[in-house]
Amino acid sequence: MDVNKWLKTVSGEVERVNKISKEYYNKYDIKQGLRNSDGTGVVVGFTKIGSVHGSKYVNGKKTPVDGKLIYRNIEINDLIKSFKEFGFECTVYLLLFGKLPLKNELDNFNEILDGYRRMPPAFTENMILKSPSNNVMNKLQRSILALYSYDQDPDSLEIDKILLQSIKLIARFPTIISYGYQAKCHYFDNQSLYLHNPKKGIGTAKNILHMIRADNLYTALEADILDLLLILHAEHGGGNNSAFTTHVVSSTGTDTYSAIGAAVGSLKGPKHGGANLKVVEMVNDIKAHIDYTDMVQLKDYLIKILKKKAFNRKGLIYGMGHAVYTKSDPRAVILKEKAAELAKEKNQMDEFDLYCNIEKLTKDIFKELKGEDAEICANVDLYSGFVYKLLNIPKELYTPLFATARVASWCVHRIEQLVSDEKIIRPAYKSLKNDESGMY
Ligand code: COA
Repeated sequence: MDVNKWLKTVSGEVERVNKISKEYYNKYDIKQGLRNSDGTGVVVGFTKIGSVHGSKYVNGKKTPVDGKLIYRNIEINDLIKSFKEFGFECTVYLLLFGKLPLKNELDNFNEILDGYRRMPPAFTENMILKSPSNNVMNKLQRSILALYSYDQDPDSLEIDKILLQSIKLIARFPTIISYGYQAKCHYFDNQSLYLHNPKKGIGTAKNILHMIRADNLYTALEADILDLLLILHAEHGGGNNSAFTTHVVSSTGTDTYSAIGAAVGSLKGPKHGGANLKVVEMVNDIKAHIDYTDMVQLKDYLIKILKKKAFNRKGLIYGMGHAVYTKSDPRAVILKEKAAELAKEKNQMDEFDLYCNIEKLTKDIFKELKGEDAEICANVDLYSGFVYKLLNIPKELYTPLFATARVASWCVHRIEQLVSDEKIIRPAYKSLKNDESGMY
C-alpha cells in the first residue's frame, strides 16, 4: 500500500471532521486563545514575578499606551542600568529570590552556577552527540527530559530540591545549546566538532560565545550585547504561552524536567520564540524578491505577505504585533537602539533601514486596512534576529538563546504555581455533536 497516497486522501477528511465552524465560538462566547473580545487575555491567575503593560482603560475602552515591562517591581529600563557586569546573572537572581543580589550574594550565586555548568559524566556523549538533531530546540528539550534520570530525586516537590533542579538547568542550558549546535554542525553540515568546556568566572553570555565558536574568541562588546539580549528575554509575565504552559503542567504535580521540557516545546513555535528566526527568513525573502530600498515595492510586498500571497503564505509579518503591547514593546525599543549602534559599526545601515521600514510600513498598512485605530508595534523579535546576525550568532541558536534567557522565569513560575495554587488547571470545552447538528 502506498501510504503517502493514502495519507493524501484521508488528510482532507481528517481536517474536515475536526474543524469547528467559527459561528459556534461567537454564539457561545468561547474565548479563543483565552482572549476577551478586546484582545486582552482572560485573567487566570496572579503572578508576582513580572508584569507586562500595553494598554489602559479610558471610559471603559481599551486604549493603547507605550509598553512597560517590569521584573519584580523593577522597570526594564532601570534594571539594565543597575549593574556593570553579570547583568543576566543578577536578573536571574532577581527573578528567583525577588531582589537584586549584593556583591557577596552574586559571587556565591556565580560560584554555584559555575559548579553546575558542565554536563554530568557521559551525558554529552550519550545524549547530545548520539542521535543528533537538526534542530537545537529539539535537542534541548530531549536533553532536559534525559536529565531526569541523572537526578536522585527527580519527582520531589520539596522547594529546596526544585530550586536545585532549577539552578542546574539554568547553569546547563548554555552548555546544552552550544553542544547541541556543535553536534548539528558536525553531523548535518560536515564541520569539525568543537566542544569547549565551560569556563568559571565569566558568566553566561561569555560562556555561550566561548562554547559556540571554534576559535572561542569574542569581543567585550559582543558579550555585553548578548548579556543585554538575555536580560531582555528573561521574563514576560504569566500569560505568555511558555510560562502558562509551565503553570499548566506544574499544576498536575509532575516533575521539573517535564514542566521545563514542555515550556521549551511551547517556545519553539514560530508564533512565540521561533519568531526571530522567521523574521530573518522573511527579510531574506524580501531581499530576494524586490528592490528593498524602494518603499513602494516594499509596501506592496508586505501587503502580499499579509494577503498570504508571498513568503510562507501564513499571512503574518513576523516581528510585528504582540498580544499585550500595542503602541510599543519596550524590549524592541531598547534593541532597536543597540541595533542602530551595531549596524553603524558593521556598515550594515542599509539592512537596518530595511527593518525600520518594515516596522513603519506595517503600521501604515494596518491603519489603511483595519482603520485609523488599528495599532501594531514592532516586537522584540523584529530586531533580535538582526542583532544576532550582526553578532555573527548562527540562526540555529536564535530560539535556543531565547530559551536560555527564559529558563529561570519558567522555573520560578513553576515554584509560584506549586506554592500558591494547589488546584490542577482544568478548563472546560463544550462538546458539539460530530456532525455539528447540536450540543451534547
Ligand atoms: N502579521 C499579520 N497580522 C497580524 C500580525 C502580524 N504580525 N499581528 C497581529 N495580526 C493580526 C491578527 O491576526 C489579528 O487579526 P484578526 O483580528 O483578523 O484576527 C489582529 O492583527 C489583531 O491581533 P492581536 O490580537 O493584536 O494580536 P494576537 O494576540 O492575535 O497575536 C502575535 C499576537 C504575536 C501572535 C501576532 O502578532 C503574530 O503572530 N506576530 C507575528 C509573530 C511574531 O512576531 N511573534 C513574536 C511575538 S513576541
